[in-house]
Amino acid sequence: MSKYQEIHQQSLSNPEEFWGQAAAEIDWMKPWDNVLDYDAKPIPRWFAGAELNTCYNALDRHVENGLGDQDALIYDSPVTDTKMRYTYSELTDAVAKFAGALRANGVEKGDRVLVYMPMIPEAAIAMLACARLGAIHSVVFGGFAANELATRINDAKPKVIVSASCGIEPNRVVEYKPLLDEAIELAEHKVGCTIIKAREQANAPLIEGRDLDWDTAATAAEPTECVAVSATDPLYILYTSGTTGQPKGVIRDNGGHAVAMNWSMKNIYNVEQGDVFWAASDVGWVVGHSYIVYAPLLKGCTTVVYEGKPVGTPDAGAFWRMIEEYNVKVLFTAPTAFRAIKKQDPNADELKKYNIECLQSLFLAGERCDPDTLFWARDTLGIAVVDHWWQTETGWAIAANPLGIEELDIKPGSPSVAMPGYDVQVLASDGTEMPDGEMGDLVVKLPMAPGCLPTLWGNDERFKSAYLTEHEGYYTTGDAGFRDADGYLWIMSRTDDVINVAGHRLSTGAIEEALSGHADVAECAVFGVADDFKGQLPLGLVVLKDGVTRSDDDIIPELVKRVRDQIGPVAAFKIAAVVKRLPKTRSGKILRGSMVKIADGTEWTMPATIDDPAIMDEIEEALKGLGYAKG
Ligand code: COA
Ligand code: AMP
Repeated sequence: MSKYQEIHQQSLSNPEEFWGQAAAEIDWMKPWDNVLDYDAKPIPRWFAGAELNTCYNALDRHVENGLGDQDALIYDSPVTDTKMRYTYSELTDAVAKFAGALRANGVEKGDRVLVYMPMIPEAAIAMLACARLGAIHSVVFGGFAANELATRINDAKPKVIVSASCGIEPNRVVEYKPLLDEAIELAEHKVGCTIIKAREQANAPLIEGRDLDWDTAATAAEPTECVAVSATDPLYILYTSGTTGQPKGVIRDNGGHAVAMNWSMKNIYNVEQGDVFWAASDVGWVVGHSYIVYAPLLKGCTTVVYEGKPVGTPDAGAFWRMIEEYNVKVLFTAPTAFRAIKKQDPNADELKKYNIECLQSLFLAGERCDPDTLFWARDTLGIAVVDHWWQTETGWAIAANPLGIEELDIKPGSPSVAMPGYDVQVLASDGTEMPDGEMGDLVVKLPMAPGCLPTLWGNDERFKSAYLTEHEGYYTTGDAGFRDADGYLWIMSRTDDVINVAGHRLSTGAIEEALSGHADVAECAVFGVADDFKGQLPLGLVVLKDGVTRSDDDIIPELVKRVRDQIGPVAAFKIAAVVKRLPKTRSGKILRGSMVKIADGTEWTMPATIDDPAIMDEIEEALKGLGYAKG
């Protein structure tokens, strides 16, 4: 048995002992009653009865242990030409002060704080300040529009919103304040206080009595202590796309999360205290929560906040420059970032300008990693390139190649094997286990590993119906795939209407809701089509209401604008066509899956349940007109 297999088996046969030992690396204010409380509802909970503070574990204890002068956070912003470093002492002080500012404005343990920030250190400071107070942060990605922000305000009901005057995209300054004002206006839940970090690239006039300036508020504040919270108390809510337009509020708890994050740093990523770990993502996504903010700091590493892109800020050598300049040991990003670099600099000429010997491994996640990208990265860098599979819901890898345990063979196209804590199985729809090599639903047998979501914010029922009902006793990941004879997992597709665009998870249902709201649209279907660069792109087909005489050329740009205004630029919705009707089953279900296959030029068969087979020719024509269905 390999070392990995031994550890994986231990974690499943005696989870209490396994995670109880891992938990010894975290400082607790009160020990747990049970490592795992099997009786908790809706699913078993980790470290019930224990108390801790996540911010203390991420910051203060390192200062107390003599790491005060080590860099905790490096900020590098090619879009503003700024570089900054915070030592552990400096970051602790900044966080303690900002926590004081939040407290001065009424934020206490259990209150929610919404964070809508660009990639600046203040985003991490705001998150950690919430953790310090036992308040619950909910970070919203900057690429979402006011409407999406308002949906999250209504669900999380924050006491305070923390934001900045702007974010900076390579092609424009994104003014956050007007979006924020609009969202507050739209939301039914009324927010009485915002704290805004002013940036010189955009002026954001403050509304008296509601908006405070970050610098003024933080300067005036008293530094605060770390508040004890229960291991099972929420640390944060992170909204993610589901099947409908209403996002799911994934909850992360304090105790299980701290243990899993800390454990993963050595065992999966093979980094030690003091190493520089760079997750080139955004704090608005789960990768940013876990591997820009919490895990590297819990482990006492140096983390990197990068406000730039893989290309264009200024060129395809940006990542190599960062790695050399900051002595990065592990880089974590989405495959799409490497596709962007490869597209612009296929021979990696930019790399010749830098010495990146410090880089030990590259980890990729967020979307399926196509073998071409994996080969290119591996041949270019000459290091281990690890694809690993995880979701917002789990917070850390379900499957990976655990470099700190042992480096397993890499099979391009597979994220390798199930991580300790995860009993991954492949089930048929009737619940029977699929034989090796055959596709089925990828599920995790309960209990989930520590760090995974215990429920959805304020919505146990949705949690149960979305994840626990399809296969009793299992968590349904929403991904389909298979396991091969060596135990490697292969993640092939989603079983729902979620698509993945440039590593960003999007709901086609939400885009459809935006399109349906257009006055001329009777019905529509949105699905993901394959894209060489972004992995998938959303494509929309709309049927107009009877009697509409306006031209398609007038309507389509309005639809594109509508999605951008209502969901945000991150939806990257640009491809749409008007059709006379949509293909449906006799019971009225739109046949999105068949349209995806036609668009991608892959083999498809006419569904037996289709209402009128002739429609498929019309759909094929429409897709050809958009440059698809070439197969
Ligand atoms: N705030 C405001 N707008 C944003 C934004 C933000 N934080 N992030 C992206 N956008 C905008 C972009 O400017 C773009 O707008 P445009 O239509 O005006 O050009 C749109 O949203 C789509 O963005 P994206 O899909 O990211 O495409 P891109 O062409 O700007 O960049 C990559 C492509 C590959 C460089 C970028 O997606 C990337 O670096 N991705 C990998 C890393 C990552 O974040 N993965 C997530 C999880 S690991
Ligand atoms: P998110 O919640 O945004 O992290 O997206 C999670 C989803 O992205 C998963 O359910 C998968 O569909 C997909 N995904 C993430 N990582 C991988 C991977 N390594 N391989 C295949 N799909 C992945």
